[in-house]
Amino acid sequence: MSDLIETDVLIVGSGPAGTTAAALLSTHGIRNMMVTRFGWLADTPRAHITNQRTMEVMRDLGLEQAAIDVSSKQNLMANNVFCHSLTGEEFGRILAWGNHPARKADYELASPCSICDIPQTYLEPILFQAAAKRGTAVRMNAEFVALEQDAEQVTATIRDRLNGKTFKVRAKYLLGADGARSTVAEAIGLPMAGRLGLSASTNVIFKADLSKYVAHRPSVLYWILQPGLDIGGIGAGVLRMVRPWHEWQAIWGVDLDKCETNITHAEAEAALRKMIGDEDIPLTVTSTAVWTVNNMYAEQYSVGRVFCMGDAVHRHPPLNGLGSNTSIQDAFNLSWKLAAVLKEQAGAALLDSYSSERQPIGKQVVTRANRSIEDYPPIFEALGLIGAADAAGATAQIAARKAPTAEGKERRTKLYAAIQQKNYEFNTHGVELGQRYRASSAIVPDGTEEPAYTRDPELYFHPTTWPGARLPHVWLERDGQRVSSLDLCGKGRFVVLTGIGGDGWKAAAAVMAKRFGIEIEALTIGPSGCDAMDIYADWFRASEIEEDGCLLVRPDHHIAWRAFSAMPDAAAKLGEVLEKILARD
Ligand code: FDA
Repeated sequence: MSDLIETDVLIVGSGPAGTTAAALLSTHGIRNMMVTRFGWLADTPRAHITNQRTMEVMRDLGLEQAAIDVSSKQNLMANNVFCHSLTGEEFGRILAWGNHPARKADYELASPCSICDIPQTYLEPILFQAAAKRGTAVRMNAEFVALEQDAEQVTATIRDRLNGKTFKVRAKYLLGADGARSTVAEAIGLPMAGRLGLSASTNVIFKADLSKYVAHRPSVLYWILQPGLDIGGIGAGVLRMVRPWHEWQAIWGVDLDKCETNITHAEAEAALRKMIGDEDIPLTVTSTAVWTVNNMYAEQYSVGRVFCMGDAVHRHPPLNGLGSNTSIQDAFNLSWKLAAVLKEQAGAALLDSYSSERQPIGKQVVTRANRSIEDYPPIFEALGLIGAADAAGATAQIAARKAPTAEGKERRTKLYAAIQQKNYEFNTHGVELGQRYRASSAIVPDGTEEPAYTRDPELYFHPTTWPGARLPHVWLERDGQRVSSLDLCGKGRFVVLTGIGGDGWKAAAAVMAKRFGIEIEALTIGPSGCDAMDIYADWFRASEIEEDGCLLVRPDHHIAWRAFSAMPDAAAKLGEVLEKILARD
């Protein structure tokens, strides 16, 4: 049959989720094919905040440096500015993305990687190229139309958009990474909670050298609050840095019933000049588009042999910058499991853990991003933008906050508090990095209670080796090189981490690797003579186990199980645990 292509995993979509899954599967030696609707990748910069966990995935793929090379570094993301225009009065700032001196250490201590800003137009090609180079078969201009599946396989109908003809792809598994309007999620009837299209926003991409207005207060987002400006209902919009400081994106709310009508370049330019506050600055609008704000998540991520990821299962506004990050992390969770099942190292039931682990994260992210929208009106209200009869009234209210009166002080106090609340959009380190998998068949509890959070769990990351949590990062030394504890793990294999007196675990790992036909690396961490040197004794403090205990770390850096100390029946115990995780019982 000439119109039938066979592969092991068919990936629909080449956004952050699809390209990451393709790159990982190819790295793990799994035959896969990626089909995507258009002739190239993202053509607008959309996602940009690239958090530490995503950079850890890039590091695992060997792509961290490539990503760093195209990024704007953390220090350029330092502020979030609220102002009348870039040349006008500034109302306040908040230090963002871990740049507050009191937060910098939190970020530095938590990961070997830095948060950074990478427009989607720069990140996707890195992942795409790695996938294609490492073996992914790619078909562009190829649109998923329908699927049918049985116990053995999935057959997808794909339409070649260049000639209109359809062809079939038969795969063992299909990944729906086809974005917020996922046809795949619809085809398998994933149950969804929430609503799409709550409101609409316009995107204007433009070029202008704004260095003289922004370089002294570097930020990825400049909020413009300007009474009388005909944008965002109350004169509110955002200028977002795409490339410092000459390429930009402007975003403002538009009426939902106008969301099918795009604004013209001339209309966009007029608004931009007011937002910048400089009528003469050279400026070129390159594109305009409208997108809708969603509040929806899937209650389950898979049906049979079809698994959805990314915006297909979590659809939310860009606040907190979590969309692409979570999509990439979904792919990191599923890819090693698919590889293990396809290599017959694990039972198919391992794949059930994808939904039980990632769905609660998707729900959390959708909820967080939507709650961050609700934190803006108090800022507008404190400034007097809401409720004023007209632009002149609003302008007078903005000025009233500077009055040397009790009322003026009350306004100032409210504004400062409302801006501080935005820590829940710009500094949610706990949400970005603190994902713990609970109630999963691919995690074996150690009998201890989940450690309580000692600080706000959204704002602060709480490292722990409690099974289900991500392996804590500490710096170690190996072969004369500085390495992270995370560098010892990942790359598609299980790792047993132990220390002085942990030889029993090393022997057990060797026996079990043979028995299960999987790669398990067993490493000791401790003084010189160990596989990695705990040079600062940070591991001694962070591991939460005795030196002769062990951590079993999954290929995605999450702790699968831990033993607090040596066990006489180490091999039997490790075997029992792996049997459960790999669904081999
Ligand atoms: P995505 O939508 O990116 O990709 C879907 C892919 O599927 C595309 O390749 C598409 O062509 C393809 N496709 C669709 N239907 C198909 C079909 N039937 N057949 C074949 N192919 C099909 N996120 C973040 O982490 N940090 C941030 O700072 C921001 N900022 C941001 C700003 C703005 C303005 C927006 C609008 C969005 C963000 N995001 C973000 C969100 C981010 O852009 C979004 O979450 C990711 O693109 C989702 O990645 P996916 O791969 O899931 O879908």
